[in-house]
Amino acid sequence: MKSSKKCTINSHQGSELQKKEVILQKDREIVYDEIPPFPPNMQMELTNICNHRCLFCGYEKMKRPRKKCDKELMFDVLKQAYELGTREVGFYMIGEPFILDDVDDYVRTAKNLGYTYIYITTNGTLANIEKVKKCYEAGLDSIKYSINGSNRYEYKKMHGRDDFDKVKRNVIELNEYKKKNAIKDLGVFISFIKTEWNKNNIDELYQEYGELVDKIYVWDCKIQGGWLDTESMIHQGIISPESLESLGGGLPCGMLFNRFHVTCEGLLDACCVDFGYEMAVADLREISLAEAWRSDVMREIRRKHLQGEINGTYCYNCVFLKNEKTFPINQALAEKRYFSEKGNEQ
Ligand SMILES: C[S@@+](CC[C@H](N)C(=O)[O-])C[C@H]1O[C@@H](n2cnc3c(N)ncnc32)[C@H](O)[C@@H]1O
Ligand code: SF4
Repeated sequence: MKSSKKCTINSHQGSELQKKEVILQKDREIVYDEIPPFPPNMQMELTNICNHRCLFCGYEKMKRPRKKCDKELMFDVLKQAYELGTREVGFYMIGEPFILDDVDDYVRTAKNLGYTYIYITTNGTLANIEKVKKCYEAGLDSIKYSINGSNRYEYKKMHGRDDFDKVKRNVIELNEYKKKNAIKDLGVFISFIKTEWNKNNIDELYQEYGELVDKIYVWDCKIQGGWLDTESMIHQGIISPESLESLGGGLPCGMLFNRFHVTCEGLLDACCVDFGYEMAVADLREISLAEAWRSDVMREIRRKHLQGEINGTYCYNCVFLKNEKTFPINQALAEKRYFSEKGNEQ
């Protein structure tokens, strides 16, 4: 898999927050086994509802009903995961986490359990200073704002919402709060997904935000399990045919071996961008996290990756940039979810 990442680092080299970021980002040894050790890192989806419509995101096509998580269940999963050895948690997957007003409760619970790195990625519109302050006080280690346009016009085109000024105000207020209180242990980052429509103004983004955040990451756009219509995106000039190579995922995919994902429905999911229960492994109301990690469904998809036989899976489209019909790795669970969630959207 080819991937390019550009990143600026402000004057925080060697600082506490940079050390923390390094802990999270460092290349971990991945054990490519049908049952690898329980992973140190998890992503937890507090809601799959979003208030934006980013051009490169599969959100709008998502088949899963939109909902918020069950707090009690998530607290229980956090506890199980900690006892199994997980130490880092990111409170986001699909959807916008700050749709919830009580994100700080999840952060606090994780911190009290002993998690060492707690982070969040947000489009920033609802992440006002009051909410972020509460999260920081509860133990948040870093926040990453997804800002995919360098000015108001470009931002609106990329996000489908005219929120450039609102997000910038939230970032400025957080910067002022950090300065005023000499806060050194909260990492503030920006993620920017590069497309043909926004790639020429990246310098402008650095001018707008360079002094306000610790790092700016520029990432390639990914195909997200085949949910992006690459042909149409090329046709509209959003991505170039040459960029196709960098869109796909790798084989075997590391996520199956060294990270796990918990959806807002309370499912263990093998993928961080599952828009249709295609990679849902097990319902954590029915079996424990430890059992789910070692389950036959999880072993089977890992085995397929290890043998390079992923035809018919969600992963096939992701790795080979296809848009073919795929079958959920746990058909019964996927059907049950659609049935039980019908008419239950929030
Ligand atoms: C799915 S969003 C969920 C959290 C929040 N709504 C946000 O936008 O930050 C998580 C991250 O995935 C990124 N993302 C979405 N679609 C992507 C794609 N096709 N390729 C690469 N990254 C993508 C977003 O820019 C964001 O940084
Ligand atoms: S990238 Fe984030 S903000 Fe944009 S539509 Fe997807 S989930 Fe929403």
